[in-house]
Amino acid sequence: MILHASKFFPFAFEILIDCSLKFFPVYVHNPHLDALKDDILYHFSLGTGSHNLPAMFGDVKFVCVGGSPWRMKSFTEFIAAELAMEDPKSGYPNICAGTDRYAMYKVGPVLSVSHGMGIPSIAIMLHELIKLLHHAHCTDVTIIRIGTSGGIGLEPGTVVVTKQSVDATFLPKFEQVILGKTVVRSTDLDQSLAQELLQCSKGLNQFETVIGNTMCTLDFYEGQARLDGAFCSYTEAEKQEYLLKAKEAGVCNIEMESSVFAAMCKLSGLQAAVVCVTLLDRLKGDQLSSSHEVLNNYQLRPQILVGSYIKKQLKIIGIFLYITQNTSYL
Ligand code: URA
Repeated sequence: MILHASKFFPFAFEILIDCSLKFFPVYVHNPHLDALKDDILYHFSLGTGSHNLPAMFGDVKFVCVGGSPWRMKSFTEFIAAELAMEDPKSGYPNICAGTDRYAMYKVGPVLSVSHGMGIPSIAIMLHELIKLLHHAHCTDVTIIRIGTSGGIGLEPGTVVVTKQSVDATFLPKFEQVILGKTVVRSTDLDQSLAQELLQCSKGLNQFETVIGNTMCTLDFYEGQARLDGAFCSYTEAEKQEYLLKAKEAGVCNIEMESSVFAAMCKLSGLQAAVVCVTLLDRLKGDQLSSSHEVLNNYQLRPQILVGSYIKKQLKIIGIFLYITQNTSYL
């Protein structure tokens, strides 16, 4: 696989990624896949029979996922400009244009995929993304969810790097019902990646970033103790009591995807992190009443942090490869 490093760095050299870098593959755990003639990734409108997945995706090293297709396209444009790879104004085609379920964009080794809202939506996307990376023979892939959340006792606009994803009872687990039986999966995330992202944000010094637990719920309204849904059977005092209990359990923010994201990435051997900006302080309110301009500015923050992290990592990989490439000739 050839990485055109001259696009990343001012120094004009091309880097050959040789086999020595291929440490960690992307795992699937499904013996039935071997029996498939072609694997159709239906919700991506891609497949092993119809597309050359290794040629299209074999060089992917970073995958960023987020709820909205629009945000993931804007992330691709942002990362292209950050890495000085291509004209940031040039159009990036949606690789999943054959479907309106998810959108996918690629710039160099960075893949950007939308996942919709909630656990079922991101889980379907992740099944197909993990198979795609596996079929493409990708190795050493880092995956980061960039998203929005409600904060607990944090200034709106604070970025939270997730230490552990917990459920609505504050336990670090994801429950999947399989054949009518509940299977409990761990929601551990990569702690060293979380720390590196936190350090990266300190270096940037552009916005407040904290590390803490993220509560993943099944719903935006009652599931997150909001008082403004179509139904509500609890008081303001009960809401406050619940959110304060969450805060005591180390919960900094609330969103709706991190638990299954953490569980599935762990099963497939992907190095994973969750970086979400808080749009409001849930101790102070429920409605997203800030202006669109303010909310859009907040939503850029995870992109800025992750963009800076990827840039740094690609420089490290580039330098490492440059050294190994040159020393191999000595
Ligand atoms: N996303 C959520 O799930 N909750 C919020 O409060 C904001 C964004």
